Amino acid sequence: MNIKIAPSILSADFCNLEQELSGIAHADAVHIDVMDYHFVPNLTIGEPVVKRICEIATKPTDVHLMIEDPDRWAPHYADLGATSVTFHLGATAAPVRLARELRSLGTKACFAVRPAEPVEPIFDILEEFDMILVMTVEPGFGGQKFLSNQVGKIRRLRDEITRRDLPTRIEVDGGIGPLTAADAAAAGADVLVAGSAVFDAADRNAAIDDIRAAAERAYRR
Ligand code: DX5
Ligand code: ZN
Repeated sequence: MNIKIAPSILSADFCNLEQELSGIAHADAVHIDVMDYHFVPNLTIGEPVVKRICEIATKPTDVHLMIEDPDRWAPHYADLGATSVTFHLGATAAPVRLARELRSLGTKACFAVRPAEPVEPIFDILEEFDMILVMTVEPGFGGQKFLSNQVGKIRRLRDEITRRDLPTRIEVDGGIGPLTAADAAAAGADVLVAGSAVFDAADRNAAIDDIRAAAERAYRR
């Protein structure tokens, strides 16, 4: 199984983003957290900055929208060139319509659930999405502790995807380091976001390699 590692630039130096991106050559994608002070209690970056990141990034761009009204704003990020756009279950009015719009713009459509949100209600619309993001912290901040009570949710989602032989990927975001990457991968996650574990490390590429190796050893077959 090829596990993908997507470092979150939320823990990078926002004054040196180009340099920070060049320092994570071993990454499979760049995870970009957009927050609006409404859906989550934090504010990060928006369209002008994401546009420039998409222009200079040499890796796929994985935009995670923690914003209200993604039905209105998510297509803008597809237009900017994001490889994938993730929006939250609790924020969207018409997830199927939005997913189809994103795909029609050439972007992968992804759906996120917060820790208190069950994944079963989206089983009937799974094929509309390229990836499901299971949050393993309450969204809004980097550096929080992995919520191990989310592992069962990852497993139930993997069981459903396997049962229906869907190509849907499972991304896990929040508190990922080598140990928790193994827990998530053992349950069936195959895309891992890591912010502080990568950007706080002295050797960031070695940190990415360690997380990937731990996840590949543990991945459920
Ligand atoms: C949190 C963000 C995450 C965050 C992860 O709401 O969605 O992507 O950057 O940071 P770590 O890996 O430090 O938990
Ligand atoms: Zn994120």
